[in-house]
Amino acid sequence: MSDGTLTITDRAAALRDPGFCRFHTDSTAVVHWSADHGWSTYSLEPYAPMTMDPGTLVLHYGQSVFEGLKAFRQPDGSAALFRPVDHARRLARSARRLAMAEMPTSVFLDACAHLVSADDSWIPGEPGQGLYLRPLMIATEPELGLRDSRHYRCTFLAYPADPCFGRAFTPISVLTSAGTVRAVRGGVGEAKCSGNYAASLLTRKQANARGYDEVLWLDGVEFRWAEELSGMNVFFVWRDDDERHGVRLTTPPCQGTIMRGVTRDCVIALAGDLGIPVAEEPTPIDAIMSGARSGRLVEMFACGTAAVVVAVGRIADGDDDATIGDGQEGAVTARMRHTLMEIQHGTRPDTHGWLRSVRKDLASVHSSTDRQ
Ligand code: COI
Repeated sequence: MSDGTLTITDRAAALRDPGFCRFHTDSTAVVHWSADHGWSTYSLEPYAPMTMDPGTLVLHYGQSVFEGLKAFRQPDGSAALFRPVDHARRLARSARRLAMAEMPTSVFLDACAHLVSADDSWIPGEPGQGLYLRPLMIATEPELGLRDSRHYRCTFLAYPADPCFGRAFTPISVLTSAGTVRAVRGGVGEAKCSGNYAASLLTRKQANARGYDEVLWLDGVEFRWAEELSGMNVFFVWRDDDERHGVRLTTPPCQGTIMRGVTRDCVIALAGDLGIPVAEEPTPIDAIMSGARSGRLVEMFACGTAAVVVAVGRIADGDDDATIGDGQEGAVTARMRHTLMEIQHGTRPDTHGWLRSVRKDLASVHSSTDRQ
């Protein structure tokens, strides 16, 4: 992580090889909420450490929710945010689940647009790269009583970013969660709250120690049904001899335990556009393992804002280890990834109205298909 004092030359170097959020930009946008005054408008502030009373509520009871969204350089040199309204709505839903204040979409959009505009020179331009925005909202009231806070602060951070598994999109490997639980129905699994990520870290670390990149979380009741990876949704591509296209896609349904991924939603929509049948249906791990061995499971991929779309080439459940397809990125995964990236970078028509352009000078957000 940089110290925020990069020179122009350093910034150029950071933009050439940003990695995933290794370098923050110069600016942040900050929004406050208080029970007395409601929402403030955004203020642009230099990136700087925050000081905090050790008794602040977030540090004790974990009222902390966040988002991850991206802005992309467009062919005409402008910048566009990708599906910011959907991210704003999800932040509000996450906040509601943790008894936090729900930020209005207009406040969220304003903060994002002004930050992207201020940080325009930080937006990298290579395919797959973008400016990753991380709005982080925390309870800031310094009082130890167990209750929801009367003050919140949302800091919008920005980072030039490659996809989190790299721009080569090398297939990743996953190991099932085997007994540890990330989320159960009725819990906070669907909220993008910091605690969900904390709950995943030990199992992820153990998977990494065994040589796997990620955890495939199974449901927390039967330890049988595939749910998602630690920070990504998951799709399975099945050979289907009855179907005209020869394949069908499935993904675990949203039943309160997985993230309602914006990229997940894109993949479902793009599958529809491409005429690939797609179903949100529960999938047991034994069908995944036997499908990988028999060749009926031809591809598997993970998707998310940070990851984009990345193939899963190898899967293990306990000691049972299987290669999926030939272990490389398959045709369906590649098609999804390229289609999504072309829309994000403005080289394919944005028929769903997912991009919202950001004016460099004024930083107000405009959209041809305003869906608010
Ligand atoms: C994202 O994809 O934006 C996320 O928040 C996932 C995180 C683990 C990087």
